Amino acid sequence: MPFDRSIKIAPSILSADFANFGAEIRAIEAEGCDWVHIDVMDGHFVPNLTFGPPAVKAFRPHVKTVMDVHLMIAPVDPYIEAYADAGADILTAHVEATPHIHRTLQAIRGAGMKPGVALNPGTPAEAVEHLLDVTDLICVMTVNPGFGGQKFLDMTNKIRRLREMIGDRPIHIEIDGGVDPNTAPFVASAGADVLVAGSAVFRGGSVDTPGVYGDNIRAIRAAAMTIGDAA
Ligand code: DX5
Ligand code: ZN
Repeated sequence: MPFDRSIKIAPSILSADFANFGAEIRAIEAEGCDWVHIDVMDGHFVPNLTFGPPAVKAFRPHVKTVMDVHLMIAPVDPYIEAYADAGADILTAHVEATPHIHRTLQAIRGAGMKPGVALNPGTPAEAVEHLLDVTDLICVMTVNPGFGGQKFLDMTNKIRRLREMIGDRPIHIEIDGGVDPNTAPFVASAGADVLVAGSAVFRGGSVDTPGVYGDNIRAIRAAAMTIGDAA
């Protein structure tokens, strides 16, 4: 998985048909997504419950690109090995989920995955300032985590601050929540390279009409690339 800062679209399967994950993943990849984003929720750190390691392991053979697993769980450490075994490429934990996030990120890397750290909307950029050597991705939440389809919160200043902090380090900035063709230019111009989108990718389509997913992915990508207009 070589590093680059080109725009990557990562559909969140939280907005897919829960009875048909394999076909949904194959459809979004065939339609040109870059990564597949998997939202793990525990009903404790966030007020919603999705899936755990056995489900993620079952998704693995369908994901040919990058399996980007976003943990919204606390605690994190007891489950790291299970997500390594499930085949996660990137494993992201929330900075708010543990007082020992540095140790958690080291453990994720030690288990052979790329460590990501996520920031809730209320958490400042400075929370990750001393984590840059132990992280490969910073996920900026632009909604309060827990549900798809929420309204985008403007975190442009935080993204710019993180981009400055990162400098030349090979660290991705991922944006998660409310990304669509209207909001994508703002986050891309501020310095984000990975755009997670759930409802804006799956809206209007199905595995029987996958071309809609392709249109939606292309619309977000094209909007993100018009960054001059949003700056
Ligand atoms: C929110 C999740 C997101 C969410 C994005 O807790 O982490 O990945 O599914 O969904 P949309 O794009 O619909 O806001
Ligand atoms: Zn997510």
